[in-house]
Amino acid sequence: MTDSPISTQLHHDILVVTSNNPPVNALGLAVRQGLVAAIAEAEANDAVKAVVITCVGQTFFAGADVSEFGTPKAFEQMLPTVVDIIEGCSKPVVSAIHGTALGGGLEVALASHYRVAVPTAKFGVPEVKLGILPGAGGTQRLPRVAGVPLALEMATTGKMISAKEASAAGLIDRIIEGDLLQHAVAFAEEVKDIRPLPISSAKQDKVSSVDPSVFDDFRKANARKFKGFDAPEANIQCIEAATKLPYAEGVNVERTKFMELMSGIQAKAQQYFFFAERKASKIDGIADDVKPRAINKVGVLGAGTMGGGIAMNFLSAGIPVTIVEMAQEALDRGTGVIRKNYEASAAKGRFTTEQVEGAMGLLSPTLDFGALADCDLVIEAVYENMDVKKEIFTKLDATVKQGAILASNTSYLNIDEIAAVTSRPQDVVGLHFFSPANVMKLLEVVRGAKTADDVLVTAMQLAKRIKKVAVVAGVCYGFIGNRMLIPRHREAEKLLLEGATPAQIDKVHVDFGMPMGPFQMGDLAGVDIGWHRDPTRIETLRDALCAIDRWGQKKGAGFYDYDDKRRPTPSPVVQQIIEDFSAKKGIERREISDEEIVQRTLYTMVNEGAKILEEGMAQRASDIDVVWIYGYGWPVYRGGPMFWADTEGLQKIVDGLKAQEARMGSDFSFSQLLLDKAAKGEKFTR
Ligand code: CAA
Repeated sequence: MTDSPISTQLHHDILVVTSNNPPVNALGLAVRQGLVAAIAEAEANDAVKAVVITCVGQTFFAGADVSEFGTPKAFEQMLPTVVDIIEGCSKPVVSAIHGTALGGGLEVALASHYRVAVPTAKFGVPEVKLGILPGAGGTQRLPRVAGVPLALEMATTGKMISAKEASAAGLIDRIIEGDLLQHAVAFAEEVKDIRPLPISSAKQDKVSSVDPSVFDDFRKANARKFKGFDAPEANIQCIEAATKLPYAEGVNVERTKFMELMSGIQAKAQQYFFFAERKASKIDGIADDVKPRAINKVGVLGAGTMGGGIAMNFLSAGIPVTIVEMAQEALDRGTGVIRKNYEASAAKGRFTTEQVEGAMGLLSPTLDFGALADCDLVIEAVYENMDVKKEIFTKLDATVKQGAILASNTSYLNIDEIAAVTSRPQDVVGLHFFSPANVMKLLEVVRGAKTADDVLVTAMQLAKRIKKVAVVAGVCYGFIGNRMLIPRHREAEKLLLEGATPAQIDKVHVDFGMPMGPFQMGDLAGVDIGWHRDPTRIETLRDALCAIDRWGQKKGAGFYDYDDKRRPTPSPVVQQIIEDFSAKKGIERREISDEEIVQRTLYTMVNEGAKILEEGMAQRASDIDVVWIYGYGWPVYRGGPMFWADTEGLQKIVDGLKAQEARMGSDFSFSQLLLDKAAKGEKFTR
């Protein structure tokens, strides 16, 4: 096979089997076939005394080829058989690992008789993130080699471990300093005559006398994290089987559970999301050769919660930040919060003291607006007011060097209007971070009418550098994420007046898998956001709550009452306000079904998402899903609002909305795209 990604070469008496399947050496069919052929070659050639499996490019095998899932190729020369053939080789097989040995890649390594790795190598079984489990013997071999506690943690979280941790757990036999291949061949020379061969599937010492309570304890300790997901439990059951059953029977359990998960909707949703996330960084209509601008120094305007959080992203990535405030007190407070956040992370072991000091050393706090002059990118993070933003951008235009990118962190306002006050609208872009900005992965990159292509390309690349997932949004009120919140909140508040309670509506959302419902979210963010600040002007429920100081968690009272540990209980005061409001507006209260809540809050979001798509405010339906999963905690096992709508069936969504249309009144209008797709039996995402 001349065009096989697998090649072999004899180094004296060691057969080096090399995979060259960019970008990540995924174990597609040709790779699997090549590996089997290589082992057969080793068996057939008496001159071969041992085998080294290695990969070229950025990484060792990063797992099964996810794009093959569900296609006929996935059923040919399947990986479980391939790894059994490797393990069954009569000559020692050594996996030589660099980059990331993930999923099926780690299973190849586990089936090898020995594993050696460079110090920077990482190991993991991320299948759980794809809604599945390591289905090529991984759930059976990993606990046998690395022990049950580590196997449980790795398999249920997808977390990667370092070469040092892997070595301590017995997962690798040697850490290689220097040239990997050269040392791996030397290692193979050392072990070539040792018999019997160490066979992972035959190892029993780490699985034979495990206290069965380990599994229930693990389930209990992680119940919150695993809530709603099918795959973590299936992984646990397989590892449990490894401790109770002979290897061959354990593998049968693994196979059954793998097939169950693979045919379920969660795996489809999570695998869809894997590609959705990667697709989000691609901007339609921009030539591949557009070069990004260099960003070596960033300015942040405003040292409040948002500005400070934004600054931390760049500091953590080693990019110097100048942060500007209007008053010394605010500047000191902001800088203090940044330091406190870093120290809290260091206390949890996420940073070393040197890293904290390194990051803080890159921060230049100042009251001097002129200090922004030589920044390559300036992000404005002051409060939401168009006049204030216009004033700031006029000043930025006069101060900051030509060629710099001028960005606003606005979450709603019109970027084009902001850009229009500058002499360089092509350099203006929206960079909408989500709070807390140093934690949340999502970044909405708002493309103005005049934003230059290289500015967008720079923003997308920079997002990667600061470990964010960026999605391009068009200019519209609330962009993608917040715009979809608008109908949800509007209908949720109307439902309160019609007879539902905050707790009932929130429960529907939490049961659906959201981290919190609309009223819990309102209390957390602040009921007073956007309030007109006139306690005598009471036009909405929110006005009524704000007027009596019920601004949310920060005041100990909002839609709920809070105790000193911020635990919520339903509020009789709020209930009375709601009922009074209903009476005043002449609304007859009735029993509200959970189904109606779903239709009026979640289906309306889908309808808004469809409008965003048809107006071209999102490039693709999957981008909307990425926004909602990373920005608002939409359960990834439901794939995001648009994928979920497809799963429900678009006609069902339309029917549900039609059933509620009269109640929603003139606030609601159908997306033509949704109606058309439903009528044609089409989907948004597949
Ligand atoms: N299958 C197919 N394509 C893959 C892939 C996989 N397992 N892993 C990565 N790719 C593709 C990506 O889609 C991307 O393609 P485009 O350039 O066309 O967008 C490209 O490889 C590069 O990927 P990243 O952008 O993610 O690159 P990175 O350098 O940031 O990260 C990585 C590299 C850590 C390997 C990361 O890609 C990753 O985590 N991949 C997934 C690993 C995984 O989930 N493996 C388990 C697979 S399931 C399995 O193995 C089941 C089993 O038991 C048999």
